[in-house]
Amino acid sequence: MSNRGNFSGRLGFILAATGSAIGLSNIWRFPYLAGQNGGAVFLFIYLLCIFLFCFPVMVGEIAIGRAAGTDAYGAYTKLGGKKWGLLGLFGVVSGIFILSYYNVVAGWAFGYFIETAFGPLLEANDYGAFFREFVNNIGHNFFYALGFLALTGWAVVRGIQKGIETANRILMPSLFLILLGLIIYSLTLPNAMAGIRFYLIPDFSEITAQTVFDALRLSFFTLSLGIGGLITYGSYVKKSEDIVYASSVVTWADTIVAFLAGLMVFPLVFSAGQSPAEGPALVFMVMPEIFQGMGPVIGRIVGSAFFLLLCFAALPSCISLLELPVAYFVDEKKWPRKKVVWVLCGVIFLIGLPSLMSFGAVPALNKLMFYKERDFLTFVADLTDITLTIGGCLMCIFIIGRWKLFNMNAELTQGNPGFPGSFAQAYINFTITWICPLLLGVLSVLII
Ligand code: PFF
Repeated sequence: MSNRGNFSGRLGFILAATGSAIGLSNIWRFPYLAGQNGGAVFLFIYLLCIFLFCFPVMVGEIAIGRAAGTDAYGAYTKLGGKKWGLLGLFGVVSGIFILSYYNVVAGWAFGYFIETAFGPLLEANDYGAFFREFVNNIGHNFFYALGFLALTGWAVVRGIQKGIETANRILMPSLFLILLGLIIYSLTLPNAMAGIRFYLIPDFSEITAQTVFDALRLSFFTLSLGIGGLITYGSYVKKSEDIVYASSVVTWADTIVAFLAGLMVFPLVFSAGQSPAEGPALVFMVMPEIFQGMGPVIGRIVGSAFFLLLCFAALPSCISLLELPVAYFVDEKKWPRKKVVWVLCGVIFLIGLPSLMSFGAVPALNKLMFYKERDFLTFVADLTDITLTIGGCLMCIFIIGRWKLFNMNAELTQGNPGFPGSFAQAYINFTITWICPLLLGVLSVLII
């Protein structure tokens, strides 16, 4: 393992896994889904999903990675045989497809940051039109998406400690600070309390199947579970680290950031008299209008900080998505890291082009005949959400049926001698055995 690189210690791993978890979904997806699904009720179910069954899946996934000490494909092959290796490969391919569209949205955030800080964004009079024009401008988006992917590639080329760890050591604390600053600002606005009430006081009569479904999907995506990204990161964790503890810190940090993002967005939305149910465009269409209302100077500062925050959240997630296939080619095919990174970046960029062009530039990609007349980016996003849940479901089955719980428990005992016989062990074993496969199976069927 030594020449593959390791995280320098507990903090390095926790920051990298937290960086992978905290991403666009916390700041972009969580607030709009909460807004569409009744606010506080959504938050409540989301929290249940995270702690009831996502946390044990995370522990299991990292344990597999550390036990095998290799990439996702190699880990399943080593612990379960060649056939199980296919599950790892499935994750590697999913990671490539997720990054292909995720990078496009990250490029939008990057572009909005530039346009807010240095460009004319705050002078627009219709942000719906601005967004449509923005995403339709292939040249600009090409540049922003390529720029973001190059930044991701650069961090991954530098390797585990110098690249991935250093990036996260800078980005994660900055993200927290920017978020806190924006929350304090938003809470001082008139009518902020209406937003807080919407967000924190649940009305249980609003629960629908859709609410539960959205919360489940999001909780998986937000913790980066199911496709082997955490198997890969787990393979760089030293045996002396306590995986259960590290996973709980990552889970809490991710949940706190999503919670804080809601605390920032809803007071802003309510004080500007906007609808919280605006949908995916909430961040790109509603937020700029709010920044504009703050006046040219404050609006520019707060708006740029917000979109920078989005970029800071997206970058470590992109890094972990890229590391997943990179580790596969480095470990399995013995290709040099640098070459793998740049070849993969090229391939991922090409695969992402239809997503990039699916907002008007190419009408056929804007309204897919075979997918509810939705755009290509949404199609890839929905499809890969399925792969996360199916991957997670099969991973639990792998632990129970092939690798066996006692091997997982033995792995978790390294770095945590008190694990055997603890409540954590009983809880994780019970959930992986019963609740996770059942819920994930049901969910996968529902999605399909
Ligand atoms: N967790 C990231 C987010 O919340 O935006 C997305 C993600 C990253 C999903 C890495 C899957 C993954 F392997």
